[in-house]
Amino acid sequence: MSEAKKQEWNSNFAFMMAMIGSAVGLGNIWRFPNVLYSNGGGSFMIPYIISLFLLGISFVLVEYAVGFKFKKSIARILYSIKGKLEPVAWFILLIVFLITTYYVCVVGWDFIYIILSFTKAWGSNPDLYFANHVLHATDSMSGLFTIVPNVLISVFLIWLFAWLIIKRDLNDGIGKVSQILLPLLCLIVIGIVAFSLTLPGASIGYTQIFTPDWGALTNLDVWLAAFGQIVFSLSLGMAIAMTYASYLPEGSKLVDNAIIVAFSNSGFEIFNSIGIFSILGFMTLSSGIPFNELVTEGTGLAFVVFPQVFNTMGPAAYVVGPLFFLCILFAGITSVIALLEGVCYSISEKFLIERKKTATVVCIIGFLISCIFATAAGSTVLGVFDAFLNNFALLFAVLLECIIFGWIYKFDDLIDTLNENSKIKVGKTWKIVIKYILPICILGLWIQGVYSTLSTADGLSITIMAILTIILIVVPFIFAKLPAINKDYYNVKN
Ligand code: PFF
Repeated sequence: MSEAKKQEWNSNFAFMMAMIGSAVGLGNIWRFPNVLYSNGGGSFMIPYIISLFLLGISFVLVEYAVGFKFKKSIARILYSIKGKLEPVAWFILLIVFLITTYYVCVVGWDFIYIILSFTKAWGSNPDLYFANHVLHATDSMSGLFTIVPNVLISVFLIWLFAWLIIKRDLNDGIGKVSQILLPLLCLIVIGIVAFSLTLPGASIGYTQIFTPDWGALTNLDVWLAAFGQIVFSLSLGMAIAMTYASYLPEGSKLVDNAIIVAFSNSGFEIFNSIGIFSILGFMTLSSGIPFNELVTEGTGLAFVVFPQVFNTMGPAAYVVGPLFFLCILFAGITSVIALLEGVCYSISEKFLIERKKTATVVCIIGFLISCIFATAAGSTVLGVFDAFLNNFALLFAVLLECIIFGWIYKFDDLIDTLNENSKIKVGKTWKIVIKYILPICILGLWIQGVYSTLSTADGLSITIMAILTIILIVVPFIFAKLPAINKDYYNVKN
């Protein structure tokens, strides 16, 4: 059998929207405000911007250059560089796939909150409501045998929606949906931020962003936090940029595009946090709860603190509430489809399975795994998956990618690829960053991640992590060993 028809973006705009959509996700909305606040407020911008330029954009450029040059899936790219490296690609893809299985679940919780927010159904105690009425949470593992129907239904709907998008052709599916959802997302965020600035007490919140704690700059953890946020927020190392860039037509301006994407993503999270902080400032004024107790991370911020805020907001909350949760939904969906695209591309390229069939199989298996998170013990297991996959496995994958592309692959070729059509050029500094600075920073972050994950882990988490480790070692080797149906797969000429 010959190769499947090559896919290509029908416009640079579609590519840019898909790229920005992949980066803008839950991390921008609920992770960034907390990271910003706990790491020095205004002064955090310095390590953040340095990490963005020096490390974030540099690594995105590697992914762009590799994807664009090879025009293949990551599995085939690594096989072409060196046959023995193929398992690394499946390792990365498996991490990405597992991350997707719980990311979808959080988007599913958000979907439930869109409906709840029309009536503020969470009542006067959103904390208890989230734990008891939405998650039906229990710490005991026997909870794994109790399905939570509402969560299961919403998780199913998110998978269904993701499937409906990715099974379509690139431009009809991901391209079109990103071009619709992303501008809508921006409009809603602009509306929410404008409204939040009119709230009494808003300045208590947003001034925090502009009040620097210069002392924080001498703290290594603050630098690692800035870099960690960039890795998460730009979805580095997840083969997303590599996959999307492989669909770019000849003549694309890679460096210019990468800079616009990275700036838009950071611009989004900074702008959005002005809104979040203003709303929290309003809450501090109206309820007396200290600001620092409100700026929590993740589910705590979205599903507990924000419902509390909407309770004190009066009728405006019936509009702002649903819009806020709709934002998270849109941001989440464009990230989910990006996470899935790289996985589907590699499978369909190696086994020559058509796009629709691959998407169907991947989504069904993904949904079945997500069912674990739709049980009463789901949120506990989700926490362990998240800590292990993000702090441990993914950073390790990024480190491997730095070594492979910086040291094993003929790096100078990538410089030529990037500079060919771009107005902004890269050179020696970029090479030094990728070969030396980036791996050292990632190693620092990884050691810190391993330490914090292991030091807080209990017996149950250790067991789950051990199981995940075995899966992450065995499955990639099986995928790499399976013979390709696509005979061109082994053609290493580029
Ligand atoms: N960059 C996206 C976000 O900030 O939510 C997507 C993403 C990042 C998904 C990291 C999953 C993840 F672990």
